[in-house]
This record gives sequence, C-alpha cells and structure tokens, in this order.
Amino acid sequence: MNANTAQRINIAIDGPAGAGKSTVARMVARDLHYIYVDTGAMYRAATLKAIEEGLSAEQQELVSQLAESMDIRLIPGTEGQKVIVDGEDVTDRLRSLEVNRLVSHIAKIERVRTRMASLQRRMALEKGVVMDGRDIGTHVLPDAELKVFLTASPRERALRRFREMGDNPGVTLDQLELEIGERDRIDREREIAPLLQAEDARLVDSTGKSAEQVADEIVHWGLASLRTISAEEK
Ligand code: DC
Repeated sequence: MNANTAQRINIAIDGPAGAGKSTVARMVARDLHYIYVDTGAMYRAATLKAIEEGLSAEQQELVSQLAESMDIRLIPGTEGQKVIVDGEDVTDRLRSLEVNRLVSHIAKIERVRTRMASLQRRMALEKGVVMDGRDIGTHVLPDAELKVFLTASPRERALRRFREMGDNPGVTLDQLELEIGERDRIDREREIAPLLQAEDARLVDSTGKSAEQVADEIVHWGLASLRTISAEEK
C-alpha cells in the first residue's frame, strides 16, 4: 500500500477519555505515513504550566496569558510524540493525577482554546495529519476528509487508563471510572467547542476490539476517501 501519494487528507479522531484515540491515531498515522497530533497533550501542557506557576483555573486572565505566550512544540518520534514547552521536554509530566484533575477546567477557558485551535489548524494546513481530541471534527478541522468518533464503555475506558498507570496507580479502578466520568461530563457540557460527535463523523465503539482492528478500519476508510478524491480529480 502506498498512501504517501501527492494527495493527502486530514483525519479527525474525537471521543471521550480512554476510548483509545491516541493509540489508534498513532497507528493510523504510522500506516499512512502521516503526522500524529495529540491535542489533549497541548491542553495538558498548558495545565502543567499553570500548576507550575501556582495558578488555579479560576484565574482565567493569567492562565490565558500563559497559554498565549507559551511555546508548544509537538515532535513526532518512534516512542510517540514529545511535547516541548518553552524549550523543555515535559512529556513525562503530562499524565500525572494533578494534571488529570485540572485539565478539563483549564480546557474550558475560551482564550486557551482559541490559542490551541489556532496552533492545531496551522499544523494541519499541509494535510497528512491524524489529529485526536474532543472538538477536532466539529470545530478545529470541520473540513477534515475523514472524521471518526471513537468511544468505549465507561468501565473499559477506566480499565485502559488504569493499566497505563503501571504498578502504583495511586487511585482505585472505581475512583478512576468516577474521575473519567466527571471529566467527560465537564468536556461535554462546556460552552465552547464541547465534546460532541460531528454529524458527518463515523461512530466506532472500541469496546472488545483491539487497537489494531480499529486502526485498520480507519486506514481502510482513509484510503477509500483518497481514492474518491483522486477519481473526482480525473
Ligand atoms: O485526550 P486527553 O485525555 O489527553 O485530554 C485531556 C483533556 O483536554 C480532556 O479533559 C479534554 C481536553 N481536550 C479538549 O478539551 N479538547 C481537545 N481537542 C483535546 C483535549
């Protein structure tokens, strides 16, 4: 399969926490030789910066200024994406419980979202991007040629996150399920660019499916979309 032709598309993968978006998006990007963009990591980076500066989500003006002035770079690598903030590699600090608990509150702030969406659109300008998040198909890249809304049962999503946390999760599976549910509620109910399935998105429930199965399905749709585009151009 040679998908790396002149014609490229953008693929938006949205869905709630723990649905498998980042694993699947990374596989799709690898198979199509596209660039993977984890937008959650950008909101996490802004959250980490706010924590380091001793700010709370209520200090919207200061958090907005911070998000607007910070330099965020996503560097694709074989081990996944590295996140560099103001020249410092913060990748390993983005998934702490502290960041998990604050991130959906920081992600509600309008100017934080405006800044992140503008960076994300710039990354997708030349196409060939697989971007995962909550509002990519509805808001950031409404013209993405392929949109997927990926979900899974709440228990399965909590279990996946629990396994990712290693030997010392510092939280029980039940607590994690509650926390994930709460984060989803905040993401769904926020006023600006909430977590929502785009009308033209394909709904995929990954409960009981392997990441490979889901990724294969998306690659298949991606290639079909590329074929349609090249047929239309002839
Ligand atoms: O995908 P994740 O768990 O790393 O996302 C972390 C948080 O960032 C999540 O609570 C919602 C928010 N987020 C968002 O609001 N919009 C995005 N495009 C991506 C993430």
